[in-house]
Parts: sequence; C-alpha cells; structure tokens
Amino acid sequence: MGTKNIKLYGFGVVGQGFQDYLAKNENAERLHTIIVKNDSKQRKAVPSIIETTNEKTVLDKDMDVVVELISSAKEAYGLVAENLEIGKRVISANKKLIAENLADLIQLEKENNGTFLYEGAVCGSIPIIRVLNDLFANESINAVKGIFNGSSNYILSKLFNEEVSYNDALLEAQKLGFAEADPTSDVGGFDALYKLIIITAHAFGKILKPEQVLNIGIEGISKQDVEFAKQHGLKIKLIAKAELVGHQLTLSVLPTLISANNDLFTVENEFNGVVVEGKDIGSQFYKGKGAGSLPTGSVIYSDLKAIDRGYQYNYKKLANENYLVNNTNVISVILSTKDTYSLQDIEDEFVSLYPLDIYGKQFIGKISLENLAAIKFNLQKEKISILALENDNLIDELTLASVKEEVLV
Ligand SMILES: NC(=O)c1ccc[n+]([C@@H]2O[C@H](COP(=O)([O-])OP(=O)(O)OC[C@H]3O[C@@H](n4cnc5c(N)ncnc54)[C@H](OP(=O)(O)O)[C@@H]3O)[C@@H](O)[C@H]2O)c1
Repeated sequence: MGTKNIKLYGFGVVGQGFQDYLAKNENAERLHTIIVKNDSKQRKAVPSIIETTNEKTVLDKDMDVVVELISSAKEAYGLVAENLEIGKRVISANKKLIAENLADLIQLEKENNGTFLYEGAVCGSIPIIRVLNDLFANESINAVKGIFNGSSNYILSKLFNEEVSYNDALLEAQKLGFAEADPTSDVGGFDALYKLIIITAHAFGKILKPEQVLNIGIEGISKQDVEFAKQHGLKIKLIAKAELVGHQLTLSVLPTLISANNDLFTVENEFNGVVVEGKDIGSQFYKGKGAGSLPTGSVIYSDLKAIDRGYQYNYKKLANENYLVNNTNVISVILSTKDTYSLQDIEDEFVSLYPLDIYGKQFIGKISLENLAAIKFNLQKEKISILALENDNLIDELTLASVKEEVLV
C-alpha cells in the first residue's frame, strides 16, 4: 500500500483529532486530501492539502481509504454510500447516518466488496462495537445498557452536584463544547438512540430504525426530580437499553432513577458507560470518554489500522438471530406534574397510577413502552416529567418512604 492514500472529509473536532493521531503514530503524509466546507473559516493550522467542497480536485476513486467526519448526516450519506458503491474502504463516526441507514450501508459494503467501520460513532473512546462484534460474536447477550450521551450526563451531573438550573447547566455544556448549539439531539435522547440502534445490530443481530424505539430525553427534568432522587440516595441518568425479555427484544432511551449498586451510578460528567450482560460472561462494565477530539480521533485511527489489516465487521448475529421486538412490556415510572388536571388525557394509558406524595403532584405508575410512546408529546406539552425506575425493587423502597413521610407530616 503506497503513501498518500487517505481522503478525509471534515476537519473539525474529530477530523483534527484523527490527523493528530496519524501524525504522531506514523506518517501524516498518508493523508492525501482534507475536504472542508467553509472557504473563509479561520483554522488553527492550515495543512496545504485542505480543499473545500467547491474545489474537490481529487477523485475518491483514486484513494484507498475515505474517512468521513463531517457534521451533516444527510450530506455524509451521499459520500459514504457512493464510496461503498465503488468498493472503497470507508470510516465514519456519524451515528445518525449509520443508525438511519445501516441495513443499506451493509448491503452496499457486501455487494461491492467494500469495508465500512464506525467504532468512533458509538461512545467515543469505548471500543464497544468491536467487543460486541468480535469477542462476543458467539455469546448470548441478554442486555446492553448505558450512558451513551456525554452532554446529557454532564448536565445531569451539574444538576446533582451544584445548585444550578437546567438552562445554566446546558449553557455551560455548550460553552465547554460538550453540547451542540442546537442541543436537541443530545438532550432529547436522539444521539443515545442512534448509538443504541448501532449497538443492537452487533449485540442482537437486529437492525431497527430509530423511529421504532421510544426515546425521552432529559429536557423535562425538574429541580424537584433531582431533589427527590437525592432524598432517596438515587441518581437520574439518561439510560439507553436493549434487552431480551423472554425471547423478545425491548429497547428504550429514558431518564432513569438508578441506585448506588448500579455500575452506571459512578459515571459522571461527560463520561460514557456501557454495561454488557451475557449468558456466560455475566455483567461487564466499560467506562470512558464518550466524545472529544483525541479520544474519538484515537478510535478512528484504530479503525484505519484495522482496515490496513483487512478487518471487516462480521455481523455474525445478523445471519444467526431473528428476535422479535416487543414494545408491550410494562415499566415502572415516577411522574411529576405541577397540575393534576394535566393528567386527565393520559391517565387511561397507565396500567396503574398512584399518588406518591400528599400534594397530588407526584405519582408512581406502570405503563407499557408503546403507551408511553403514544403520550410522549402530551408529557412534553403539559411539562410532566417521567422517570423510569431501574427495576421494580425500587418501588417498595419509594412507596414505603413516602408512607413514612406522610406519617411524619
Ligand atoms: N465531537 C465529538 O466528540 C464526536 C464524537 C463522536 C462522533 N462524532 C461525530 O463525528 C462527526 C464530526 O463531528 P465533529 O464534532 O468533528 O464536527 P465539527 O467539529 O462540526 O466539524 C465538521 C467538519 O466537517 C466539515 N464539513 C461539513 N460539511 C461538509 C461537507 N459537505 N463536505 C466536507 N466537509 C464538510 C466542516 O467544514 P468547515 O471546517 O469548513 O466548517 C468541519 O471541518 C459527526 O458525525 C459527529 O456526530 C463527534
């Protein structure tokens, strides 16, 4: 393989991290061209090989490897798909693009004998895709759950550890570069959902579309929710989860009350955490930097080295497993509202719903994931917050505590 054989699209946070890794580990000369969008942007360093999208002089087909690290999923689709169509080896970190198009992209990869790797798209520096794809290809996985979005986790840590409002915590996350100017994808639970979709393909061999899975983000979390969690020694985390219930798959992204014996309890700030539970391997816990220039650049560089060795994902479980997805599972939730009137339109969707406090503002209930999905927009409109419980053991603890509080009052 000759030098000057890589074309890099995007030279932002991750693109620059990747270039740093390439430069310090081998020969940065391997990078033939870097394509960026904005002609007039001030750049920290301007490598002579930078071109803009308007003046692309080098054809992708003349390159060995194309590394796609641009911001837009829509634009990225065109360039990833076109390169896989001509059998190129392509690396991407674009979780939205991958989650929305995984089946098509795998087909293009196979039909044209290309390669498509994307470790950097899921939980930054935590090498979870290759762990699931390679090391646990023959293991029966029961569940994969975790904190997949560093921005939301940073905001939740701030709310718990400092007396700040949600908006101030979000502003700080944006200032530090953990959250985008438009934070919807992070705080709305979409970013975590995309990563969950990709993980599910490797852990369970099932490719789902993002719209098939319920995601509720952290925008509705109030000071009262945080106080409630603290009083009971719990934390609120945005948990993405894919698990087998019976022989059927259940997926969700939900703000969740977790207790101190949950491994994810210790994952703070911009860190990510992943718990993998398998039939024979038991429970394993991975924690690491979920984003950032060098942490993500590092795994993109590892993808490049894997490509140099001829590595491809085997997707073994896609061929072997065929799980049905079940959204009728019932979960336990705590619901908080400022006004009980606002519950009128949604209370029939619950299997059960009981007041948890004496003010009639907090309720504990059971609801199926599909019914929760059906009332998601009502909850947002009426500013009702929902917290899932990590498991039903918490119900006894919380209801007993509330009875004690009533007696004390
Ligand atoms: N940031 C993270 O920590 C992180 C972690 C994991 C995965 N990711 C994913 O990695 C990808 C890149 O993220 P980022 O944070 O590096 O983004 P970023 O800092 O906003 O940089 C995006 C880069 O893409 C360029 N660009 C945009 N549209 C382009 C186009 N059509 N053709 C060529 N270049 C184009 C931009 O050009 P200009 O410089 O001219 O504006 C910029 O250099 C995204 O898919 C993101 O979801 C990011």
